[in-house]
Amino acid sequence: MKGLSEIGDIKSKKVIVRAGLNVPIENGAVKNNFRLKKLLPTLKTLTDKGAKVILIGHIGRSKEETLKPVSDELSKHIKISFGESEIEKMVDGDIVMLENLRQNEGETLNDEVFSKHLSSFGEIYVNEAFSVSHRAHSSIVGLPKLLPSYAGVQLQKEIEELDKARNPVSPSIFILGGAKFETKEPLIEKFLEVYDTVFIGGALVNDFFKAKGYEVGKSRVSEKPANLDRYLDKVMIPSDVTVINNGEENTKKPEEVLPEDKIVDIGPKTLEKLKKLISEAKFILLNGPLGPYEDGFCFYTEEVVKSIKESSTHSVVGGGDTVASIAKLKIEDDISFVSTGGGAMLGYLNKGTLPGIEALK
Ligand code: 3PG
Repeated sequence: MKGLSEIGDIKSKKVIVRAGLNVPIENGAVKNNFRLKKLLPTLKTLTDKGAKVILIGHIGRSKEETLKPVSDELSKHIKISFGESEIEKMVDGDIVMLENLRQNEGETLNDEVFSKHLSSFGEIYVNEAFSVSHRAHSSIVGLPKLLPSYAGVQLQKEIEELDKARNPVSPSIFILGGAKFETKEPLIEKFLEVYDTVFIGGALVNDFFKAKGYEVGKSRVSEKPANLDRYLDKVMIPSDVTVINNGEENTKKPEEVLPEDKIVDIGPKTLEKLKKLISEAKFILLNGPLGPYEDGFCFYTEEVVKSIKESSTHSVVGGGDTVASIAKLKIEDDISFVSTGGGAMLGYLNKGTLPGIEALK
């Protein structure tokens, strides 16, 4: 796989950059620009070399969604124009962002005709879309077959840092939260062999409480629970939890949860244990929030993130809500590495590669 240092003379050449432009939008404006800021080193490298950059990406999952607000946000950081009609006006060093790739169904189908159509926009391809590299879509795996292809600056960093997370220095701790047990089980299995401590929080842990025979009340659990017996003695789970019941918040031991309770976070004793492990660790991996962050249960996730920052330990952190907590606390530059990927991060940690990375080789 070649990086941008090997791209050579690209003056006046059209370079297609597949970027991770799928960012949260609220009231027509970008809510979190973390992924967009991470595109800047690649965009600056290419425009400084005099290339004409054609920026492509997707947003959301419906054909109606537009990338215009993303272009508006990015234009606060680098000069950029929007729409195919701007291409003919381009001069060296210009950037034009094209409309949402998923408006054409050929993109997700990895349709050959669509890949060829995309390749007609340029002479060179750069993948700077780590967050989408787990998808075998046209712009990720079809297009690099048709053009000389390179990995972007952030994509290379993601690989370097996530490789460290696959072989952590001891003592190490993996803190896994969020939901969707089925997507995370392979990682639990794999990283129990690799990490000194695997801590389970978020909605995932409710399945573990249930497997232990505890009442989980109205808590979120998996529809098809896996057989967790083989993990029960190996993972660390919270020794206290925060529950809500009729709007009232309480801290309890997991075995004291009542049928009317809903588990929404870890508790203070668990936080203290985590803080101690974090302060003693030489490597920390965090993915997913410890409570339903989107519903406002963000206190313990943010406390854990703050203690990771204070520890100055080499840390790799990722997942949409985890990145949101870091952005909210404005500490993204104080954590060793924050991944731009959600599903892609989990996929890479599990397999050590992704379809989009293989396509560059
Ligand atoms: C992401 O935002 O994590 C990626 O862009 C993937 O988006 P998707 O899950 O809609 O394919």
